[in-house]
Amino acid sequence: MCGIVGYTGARVAEPVLIEGLQKLEYRGYDSAGVCTVEASGAMHLRRAMGKLAALRARLATEPCPGSTGIGHTRWATHGKPSEHNAHPHRYEGVTVVHNGIIENHRALRAELQAEGHTFSSETDTEIFAHLVARERRGGASLHESVRGAVRRVHGAYALAVLDERCPGEIAFARLASPLVVGLGDGENFLASDVPAVLEHTRRFVFLEDGDTGTITAAGLTLTDVDGRPLSREATQILWSAVMAEKGGHKHFMHKEIAEQPRAVTDTLRGRLGLGDGDVTLDGVDLDVLARAKRIVITACGTSWHAGLVGRYLVEQLARVPCEVELASELRYRDPVLSDDTLVLAISQSGETADTLAALKEAKRRGTMVMSICNVIDAAIPRACAPDGSGKAAGTLYTRAGPEIGVASTKAFVTQLVALHLLALQLASVRKTMTKQALAGDLQALAELPMAIEGLLDGEDAVKAAAARYVAARDMLFLGRGLLFPIALEGALKLKEISYIHAEGYAAGEMKHGPIALIDEHMPVLVLALPGPGYEKVISNMEETRARGGRILAVVDTDDHALDDQVEALFRVPARHPRTAPVLATIPLQLFAYHVACLRGLDVDQPRNLAKSVTVE
Ligand code: G6P
Repeated sequence: MCGIVGYTGARVAEPVLIEGLQKLEYRGYDSAGVCTVEASGAMHLRRAMGKLAALRARLATEPCPGSTGIGHTRWATHGKPSEHNAHPHRYEGVTVVHNGIIENHRALRAELQAEGHTFSSETDTEIFAHLVARERRGGASLHESVRGAVRRVHGAYALAVLDERCPGEIAFARLASPLVVGLGDGENFLASDVPAVLEHTRRFVFLEDGDTGTITAAGLTLTDVDGRPLSREATQILWSAVMAEKGGHKHFMHKEIAEQPRAVTDTLRGRLGLGDGDVTLDGVDLDVLARAKRIVITACGTSWHAGLVGRYLVEQLARVPCEVELASELRYRDPVLSDDTLVLAISQSGETADTLAALKEAKRRGTMVMSICNVIDAAIPRACAPDGSGKAAGTLYTRAGPEIGVASTKAFVTQLVALHLLALQLASVRKTMTKQALAGDLQALAELPMAIEGLLDGEDAVKAAAARYVAARDMLFLGRGLLFPIALEGALKLKEISYIHAEGYAAGEMKHGPIALIDEHMPVLVLALPGPGYEKVISNMEETRARGGRILAVVDTDDHALDDQVEALFRVPARHPRTAPVLATIPLQLFAYHVACLRGLDVDQPRNLAKSVTVE
């Protein structure tokens, strides 16, 4: 998800860029870089691996003079974190910073290599420097060249481009990745997000998809990709600096819940073959997958819940036996792990000590390994990187971007999407699904971002419901099948940020214990979506009602059967059973969030918890 900043004006650009990047570090922090250009055309490029502090240290001895420049803080998507993969990327006097994903970068790279271009990184971004430089050779202006370049790419981009032959000018383009222009007095700014330059200006132009243009000290030029002039109103931003960092949200958790349509879109990008009814999993060795006769998923916390959904998907779609085990249990259990077993580790951070240890133990016993992870090249993906042994299948990355709120939200939802893609890939390799069924799942996945957007629009109703349960001491969450893990996750979200004791239970198990707890002090949230378990879940609900229990239910948008039977209803468009878990998650996240807020708690940093647990 990367952060971009650009400055042109009368000041020295470097400190403006570095301060801007500091405010954008929440968007990524595996490497950083700046490039400035002096009025003479002298260009200065500095990059460093790791957090911004490393770049600062470099600049302390090798400063970048010049009053026009671009900067970048990276969250790797293509090419591991390293100095040579850090942005800006340079080719023939053109330098580029980019946030987004270029889907056809391999084909473009091959085309350019055939023309004699040599590349110095493994990134998709470097393509832009080459494409722009090629256009420049033909005499096109910088802005025309950027338009020419973006016409060739498929994917998402926010782009800022410098050229030593036109100092004082920064060209930019945006599609599906955020980019704003900050308007100053005799100076102008570019940034991924408002907070980067809020201390310099409060007037912003929020760029839209397909916008391209240039900034100079004197002003802003804006056109569409074909060069037709555009005009956009500037907005006066009234946020405080702290609010701006959270994108205007009160908490990172809320911001991250709101980012889920984008996070899902990014996780699906380039992987859904809607036309040819297939999936393409980049970074995963299909030969290894094809040899797996059994899959053991291992993870901790929320990632373990995602794994539980994954088991249903893998078994249902690909007919591969699949187990899920807590990493902290698996490693000490002396498990039976044969060499045709694939151990799949799921982790947001890629650093969780128990998950890493379980994975290493599995490797030691000769299993095949793979991971689903959000942080590129973290310890877990490194342990799964293909190493010539034919046993490491690589990593399927979720593309949620950095998650700061301790309670995982967007990482979980993108893990569910990644697991669904993986199950479809396995099904396709094993021919266990018809083309038509496969196409149905792909379509349901493609519709998810919009459906999540719709659920986020219904937040006020969830907040109103949350107000009724603020004083609860205990709460039970029930679900069956694919929705059982969602009941576990809903309960975990509530307990970790609101400190209300909450338990998730398989609805069918209710009568084997929890039913003894039911009274008017124990609200019960029932996940009652269409599917084979629906009638049974309704019976469980009746049993609860008969004992005076207060019921909240998550139901399908078109289901009105429970309208008069429950205290609160959350409606989700659960038309497809295998994407329903994602949709059912959204109101549960919002519910936990609002209950915790109404109780006045520290939502982003709940007591005693850590974002990444690197001790066993
Ligand atoms: C901690 C976090 C959870 C997370 C779990 C596993 O407990 O607070 O949100 O689910 O670790 O982390 P991982 O990074 O491996 O997914």
